[in-house]
Amino acid sequence: MNVIGSLLFWVCAMVLLLEADGSFITNEEYARMLYQNPRGISCAKCHGEKGEGKVLSTYVDHGKSHSIQAPPIYNLSMERFKKALSRKGRLMPQYFLTEWEMAHLYYYLLTQNPDYNKNKTKGKKHDS
Ligand code: HEC
Repeated sequence: MNVIGSLLFWVCAMVLLLEADGSFITNEEYARMLYQNPRGISCAKCHGEKGEGKVLSTYVDHGKSHSIQAPPIYNLSMERFKKALSRKGRLMPQYFLTEWEMAHLYYYLLTQNPDYNKNKTKGKKHDS
């Protein structure tokens, strides 16, 4: 490789290395990606794209129709959120997420809450 060729190579390698430290994705992007696919099982599949909750299945038993639902999760307290993620639910799998991951998921879901966005555009917080 000539001098210019190897110089170019090193410049490219440096740029890639600098990007690889994670600073090129924002916290928002990281949190959204995490919600889509933590540990290979998507929260969104059960709880909906924005954590609004979702009907997973309906069935009829003795002529009465029932449904199995994943509840909305964009409006919970931090304690309740973390508690639910730290144990196995009846249907929900246990994830063994780190504090860091749970905080990002919680933050992401808050920003998906329609009330959060309504209050944000009005310029005030949680008083409606
Ligand atoms: C297989 C479907 C499924 C997946 C995947 C799933 N959940 Fe759940 N989740 C449920 C169901 C159903 C409940 C209600 C409790 C139960 O039956 O387990 C629940 C309950 C919860 C609760 C408690 C809600 C409350 O009102 O206290 C939180 C928080 C939650 N899930 C967050 C998440 C997050 C975050 C993820 C991804 C890391 C996730 N869930 C993945 C189905 C799912």
